[in-house]
Amino acid sequence: MRSFFQNGSNRLAAVMGLMILPFLIPDLAAQEVNIYSSRHYQTDERLYEDFEKATGIRINRLEGEGDALIARLKQEGRNSPADILLTVDAGRLWRAEDAGLFQPIASDELTAKIPAHLRHPDGLWFGFSSRARMIFVNRDLADPALITGYEDLADPRWKGQICIRSSSNIYNLSLMASMIAHHGEADALAWAKGVVANFARPPQGGDTDQLRAAAAGECAIAVANSYYFARLMLSEDQADREVVAQLVPIFPNQDGRGTHVNISGAGVLKYAPHQKEAIAFLEYLASDSARFISRQAIMNIR
Ligand SMILES: [Fe+2]
Repeated sequence: MRSFFQNGSNRLAAVMGLMILPFLIPDLAAQEVNIYSSRHYQTDERLYEDFEKATGIRINRLEGEGDALIARLKQEGRNSPADILLTVDAGRLWRAEDAGLFQPIASDELTAKIPAHLRHPDGLWFGFSSRARMIFVNRDLADPALITGYEDLADPRWKGQICIRSSSNIYNLSLMASMIAHHGEADALAWAKGVVANFARPPQGGDTDQLRAAAAGECAIAVANSYYFARLMLSEDQADREVVAQLVPIFPNQDGRGTHVNISGAGVLKYAPHQKEAIAFLEYLASDSARFISRQAIMNIR
């Protein structure tokens, strides 16, 4: 509206302005929040609807691949309309943090609801769900008892037996980071070389493709995030459930540091035009009702 009146000083423009004014007023008054999201949970639609109903704040969403959204935010700079970046993997949240895209948020509700190890210490981003990076074994091709930790993936006994997606993928970069944190750079590098030496095929596809390949006997062992297995488990397609039946899921490193767990999370962007609404949305994601909807949706998939 402002630019309309600045540009149009003649009478016609003023009349036109009055004509469109009634239609613009509700929009100007409406509260809204703009979310850039690379999360594709089946529950997200219901969460957005529930939030809009509960708060009257309208959600505008732009979906894309995580790194593409980060690149876009960098390019848009202070002109970006985005209030929130919602993405998966702490590695991506770190990339956005490193690019200076987030602003620190102080919210008692978020700090009370989200454990300290699942959020940024200064409130730049918060984790809202967790996923495990797991190992899956074809029950006819390998003895699951021989694979108890990520370290076993480098054992030469598994030469030609491992399916895993590309090492440039953020899930594997974060797993590698955890190996460096636990073993140091030199040992982590030796481990990675050992895993590569055991590849059944050049890395291809996503996590689900690794599960399908292991079930089909193309390899004995696959690495994938927990929800991909759960998705196949809850699929209405019999072929998907046969994949699940053929695989033994393993939560690695139960005798030591535990399984590598990552998060999906979000932060409020530095130039967010709707900061208050953005914080309300993050607080909603951490709320009991959002958790209830997520749980309910999972139960109702079949
Ligand atoms: Fe994923």
